[in-house]
Amino acid sequence: METTAERDSFRYTKIPLTNGSGVIPALGFGTLIPDAAATISATRDALEAGFRHFDCAERYRNEREVGQALQAGLAAGGIAREDIFVTTKLWNSNHRPERVEPAFEASLDRLGLNYLDLYLIHTPFAFQPGDEQDPRDQNGNVLYDHGVTLIDTWRAMESLVDHGRCRAIGLSDISLNELLPIYESARIKPAVVQVEAHPYLPETELLEFCKDKGVVFLAFAPLGHGMRPGPLEDPVISAIAARVGKTPAQVLLAWAVQRGTALLTTPRTAIRARENHNVSALPEDALDEINRIQTRQRFNEVVKTGSPGFIPQGS
Ligand SMILES: NC(=O)c1ccc[n+]([C@@H]2O[C@H](COP(=O)([O-])OP(=O)(O)OC[C@H]3O[C@@H](n4cnc5c(N)ncnc54)[C@H](OP(=O)(O)O)[C@@H]3O)[C@@H](O)[C@H]2O)c1
Repeated sequence: METTAERDSFRYTKIPLTNGSGVIPALGFGTLIPDAAATISATRDALEAGFRHFDCAERYRNEREVGQALQAGLAAGGIAREDIFVTTKLWNSNHRPERVEPAFEASLDRLGLNYLDLYLIHTPFAFQPGDEQDPRDQNGNVLYDHGVTLIDTWRAMESLVDHGRCRAIGLSDISLNELLPIYESARIKPAVVQVEAHPYLPETELLEFCKDKGVVFLAFAPLGHGMRPGPLEDPVISAIAARVGKTPAQVLLAWAVQRGTALLTTPRTAIRARENHNVSALPEDALDEINRIQTRQRFNEVVKTGSPGFIPQGS
């Protein structure tokens, strides 16, 4: 029988970041929620349920609402800024080095914070620089920027750490092949890599690299973006859930923590926030069964084009 202390130590798991830049809570709340009012209530509910890691992005266009909910929640709960971990991301249209610091400052301003725990390059794809987040030609094709390389952008990210405004930096939607040259030439190594991962897309090779180098692997879509059919309805997951007395979502989130990753999940109600935070360690045989699932499926194509799959056009 699991004790409360054991359960708390599991659901409040923290993973150390490289360069002594602190720790990241394994269970993270993602703020990719298109509706402003829903962003505020879901962020507040997540904080109340125990989430202490919040993942934002300028592209989500709701940093102001997330910031508002966090300020109110911290004040109401007597929680200090240092007790939460906040990430946001540099969008594709801001990859030119001279655009990085202004984009970072604008995000901080919208969030109402004076430092960030983590700043990520949202995707390795540079779009035409400017304020249009989804620049397209007259045929609807994305306008890429071939005048900047990822390492140029990375150097500007390193300066943010030098100036003390951001404790750690990393990348998102990146493959191992794209990560390797950045990792090799980085003066400040990436602390975190955020990619889609779940039992249908375990990304084992990238995970092994990250473990070897001390880079935190941060999984988004741990529930397969909630899509059905998908991991939430997988018969192996359902059978384990019934056996251990947990929900399929709790099984998937526990698996992610136990394989040494941090994760992002997006519960939108207070009930789901409590469910998704109330995770417990699974027995070894359950982990083995999940690792033997053969289905392979990617739910988000952002990694192929830099265009997000789940943000309505023009929003
Ligand atoms: N780097 C990137 O390019 C990128 C891309 C996508 C996402 N992200 C980040 O990752 C975060 C996580 O998003 P996600 O979509 O990957 O999260 P997710 O938790 O895998 O999926 C969210 C979906 O699962 C459903 N859900 C949540 N809890 C559930 C539960 N207990 N039982 C059943 N269904 C449940 C939700 O349904 P309802 O809608 O009914 O609540 C929602 O449709 C985002 O908010 C964002 O911060 C990053």
